[in-house]
Amino acid sequence: MKKRIANAGVFSAIVAFILVVTACSHAPNTSVDNATHSTVGLSQQAVAMPDSYSADAAMQVLQEGGNAIDAAITAQFVLAVTLPEAGNVGGGGFMTIKFEDNTDFLDYREMAPENAHRDMYLDEQGDVKPYESLFGAKASGIPGTVAGMWAAHKKYGTLDWERLLAPAVHLAEQGFVVHEKLANNIARYISRTQEKGINNNFSEYFAQAKAGTTFKQPELAKTLKAIQQQGKDGFYKGDVAKHIVDFMQQNGGLITYEDLLAYKAVWRKPLHLNWQGYELVTAPPPSSGGVAVAQWIGMLEAYDATHDLPAQNSTEYIHVMSEIGKRVFADRAEYMGDPDFVSVPVEALTDANYITQRAADIQPTSISDTPSVKPGLKESEDTTHFSIIDRWGNAVANTTTINLTFGSGVVVTGAGFLLNDEMDDFSAKPGVPNFFGAVGGEANAIEPYKRMLSSMTPTLVTKDDQVVLVTGSPGGTTIISSVTQSLLNALLYDMSAEEAVNSPRFHHQLLPKDTIRMHDGFTEATVNELKAMGYTIDNRRFGDVHLIKRTKEGVEAASEKSGRGKSLVQPY
Ligand code: DON
Repeated sequence: MKKRIANAGVFSAIVAFILVVTACSHAPNTSVDNATHSTVGLSQQAVAMPDSYSADAAMQVLQEGGNAIDAAITAQFVLAVTLPEAGNVGGGGFMTIKFEDNTDFLDYREMAPENAHRDMYLDEQGDVKPYESLFGAKASGIPGTVAGMWAAHKKYGTLDWERLLAPAVHLAEQGFVVHEKLANNIARYISRTQEKGINNNFSEYFAQAKAGTTFKQPELAKTLKAIQQQGKDGFYKGDVAKHIVDFMQQNGGLITYEDLLAYKAVWRKPLHLNWQGYELVTAPPPSSGGVAVAQWIGMLEAYDATHDLPAQNSTEYIHVMSEIGKRVFADRAEYMGDPDFVSVPVEALTDANYITQRAADIQPTSISDTPSVKPGLKESEDTTHFSIIDRWGNAVANTTTINLTFGSGVVVTGAGFLLNDEMDDFSAKPGVPNFFGAVGGEANAIEPYKRMLSSMTPTLVTKDDQVVLVTGSPGGTTIISSVTQSLLNALLYDMSAEEAVNSPRFHHQLLPKDTIRMHDGFTEATVNELKAMGYTIDNRRFGDVHLIKRTKEGVEAASEKSGRGKSLVQPY
């Protein structure tokens, strides 16, 4: 079945960096853990969260009259307690906001410590040392989460900071019941790090978290209380800062008191682009995600102008989207980095003519030669995401991370939280792939206080100035595919929220050559056709999309079945 895009060819990526600075709608409660799908009247608010604790706490804030940003702050801190794989105070993230008539973007990405330098992960032969940017204190960038939440609260918060932190403090102090998936992740992590001979203090803190038991984190509770009482200073100064710096000094890490004081969350202009009568509001650099989504949906639209739009998840669709992915990731590797350090040609990369010309040589049935796919301009595995929409129509898409599952695997002694291993998102050496197989060059080389390039893409879509979609996912470089496909599923292929998050997805990123990462769930015929074309199939699952869709009938919220998410739509 082929379907035409209504106004194909009108893709216009306006990188209209609109400056945004201001402050900012009853039916039965519907909630189902995992793959929640609810459709009710118009006066609702919704959360799509990666676990039940964050969903319940965030909805409670909304019910008390807090706005979407208040609920996001509560969720972020709860996830630091109940989803230690990715939820954090020791990491960073991005928040895309629609507040009243304006949009905004909060960059609370980690920064390289002042003593970091471009060759810090190379040995004497100039080869990348395995694991150093991934495990242990030296893998950590300066954490940005607490500064980020503090900045979000200062600009948009309405409920008391102390109130917003209360659920996290309670869950850390009194404990929470450990989900089976968390217990499995912990056990797997311990055995894998042991196999690799990695020495850390992870087991001391997490080995006792067994499925179905109550798990308390007293040190983390103290840290959260300090943040609750002193705001951002409770983390970047005082006892918590001392614990961090002591830990760094004892374990070969680089972060100093000066680094903690130097950390700043930054308000940026989100990337806006017009597509199919919608306006996308998404992540600008230092995320590569917004530009990549713009290129992906733009090249699909350009392809559709000269061919029929392939059916969703057909062999042709997967192939064409893979061809686009090659081009997207070739540009990512060459041009993208921290905009405070390098000039990122966002307008050129999202220009409609550039995108059309870039898609022109995509063939419906044959694979392009990987080495021939170059950057196109002439010049020259754990994160988590949540989505919220409040009664006023304000919305938050927030993606946050400590990079890999359980970050660097080390817990700050005395402060009880896991540190990130975000330094691996830099390019340790030009052309050498990082954990996610992404290569990079000069633009993403390590420099003091630079932010490492990210793929996190918290995204909102508006129509007639109303938010119609909120989406995002974890998954490193695959985030871009999860976001692109969830939004195409929901808006181009008209799926419900539940279908949009659970329809199988795929990912292609140029390297490894002609390899498509695919969820289970595609037909055998499709997989065989792709293999016959010359593709190698990698069956590792990726992503955990939490999506809210607003239609004339009401609001739907859905969390992907594979995770432990929970979505709620409630009247207020
Ligand atoms: O910022 C990034 O792109 C990565 N640090 C995100 C890591 C991630 O999504 C891991 N999740 N599975």
